[in-house]
Parts: sequence; C-alpha cells; structure tokens
Amino acid sequence: MIRLQKFMASSGVASRRASEKLIEEGRVKVNGQVVTQLGTTVDPAVDEVQVDGQVIAAVSEMVYILLNKPPGFVTTAKDQFNRPTVLDLLHEVSTRVYPVGRLDYQTSGLLLLTNDGDLTLKLTHPKHEIFKTYVATVEGHIKSSSLETLKSGVDIGDFFTSPAEVTLIKATAQESVVRIAIREGKYRQVRRMFETVGHPVTALQRIELGQLNLSGLQEGKWRYLSDTEIDYLKNL
Ligand code: URA
Repeated sequence: MIRLQKFMASSGVASRRASEKLIEEGRVKVNGQVVTQLGTTVDPAVDEVQVDGQVIAAVSEMVYILLNKPPGFVTTAKDQFNRPTVLDLLHEVSTRVYPVGRLDYQTSGLLLLTNDGDLTLKLTHPKHEIFKTYVATVEGHIKSSSLETLKSGVDIGDFFTSPAEVTLIKATAQESVVRIAIREGKYRQVRRMFETVGHPVTALQRIELGQLNLSGLQEGKWRYLSDTEIDYLKNL
C-alpha cells in the first residue's frame, strides 16, 4: 500500500504537493468514492484511482525529456486561448509528461518535462532551486551599475531577488545582451528584474538548467535525458 499522493505523483499526475491539493479539493476518487484525507493509502494493483473523472494508470517507466522550446508556445497542457502548447511539440511521446516549472509564452530554450513527480517537486522546491541561466536581449545600452544592481538583488514588487550571476555579452546604443543565472523561479522574474533597472526584455532564452544545456538541440526539437543527466538531477 502506498500513500495516495505518492501514487499520483509516481503516475505523473502532478507533483506530490500538487496531488495533495487535488485530494483536498475533492477531485480524487478511490474506487468511486471521493477521498479528501491525505493519509489515505492505496494498492495500485487493486484500487482504481480517478482524478477529475479520469482513471490513473500506474506508470512503471519514468520519462525525462529536454525540449528546446520556441517562443510562442505555452508551458501548460491546455490553454484558455487555444494557443499552441509545449506538448504539441512532443507528439511522438506516448507517455503523459509535465513541464518542470514554466517558461513564459515568448521565452525560448531549455525546458524539462517528466512524469517523475518527485523529481519535479525537488527541482521546483525553493529549498533546492538550482541555477537557471538565461540570455536576455534588452532595450538600450545597459550600464555596469545596473548590472551590479541585478547581481546583488532587486525589488521586483512582491519579492527581493537573491544574488545572481550577471555577465554582459554585448551592448550597442539600441540594445544589450546579458547572460544571467538565477536560483529562484518567480513569475516572469528575469523580465521583471530588467524592467526594474529600466531595460525591458525583448527576447529571452533559457540556455542552462544546472549543468544541463541545449548542446546543439535545434529550437522546437527535444531529446531524452541520458542516464548520467538523470542521475545528476536526482543527486542534486
Ligand atoms: N524569467 C522570465 O521572466 N520568464 C521566463 O520564462 C523565465 C524566467
């Protein structure tokens, strides 16, 4: 017997924490009965678990995918405006996978997708958050004082950012290109950081997640992670 939320996470429904929320919201049934108790245990071989009326199958195989997301795709399974989603780029993948964190609609670059709810929880938990590196193209010629401000931390309204790694790649009178690595993943964080110092972002690409990078993967293409990369993430 395993805990219901653990079973849900291992089946790729959602992270363990998000699964607990689904249970508390009364969206989960075990053998036809709504269950809202977090202590509930199930036997995946015998019990039928449904989420929003859909039967959840036990997944034995974990799938780990690295996608080079193009701009113009949402990082959710369904979009209220019917815009293309990152899952549209993965038709060949038959297992249901979920994005690890989000990239904005117009942000491109490295996005992980998996059905391993425990790993998702670990990678997105504030305590463990790993460096995410972006290349930001911004309006105007950015001064070194602004780069220093971004480095030491800025107030983006609801949040004061922790120290970031910031390197100027190039600057002309019209625009600047900056490499920035942050640990947190607040909503539109990089865009808001640059807005704060007066340089709106015109293009944003995530190039690295910890030691993982895009290494020659074309925009719109994906690949499975290697065993070494999976072990690296699990051992972080
Ligand atoms: N920061 C942003 O502003 N947008 C993203 O998509 C990722 C990080």
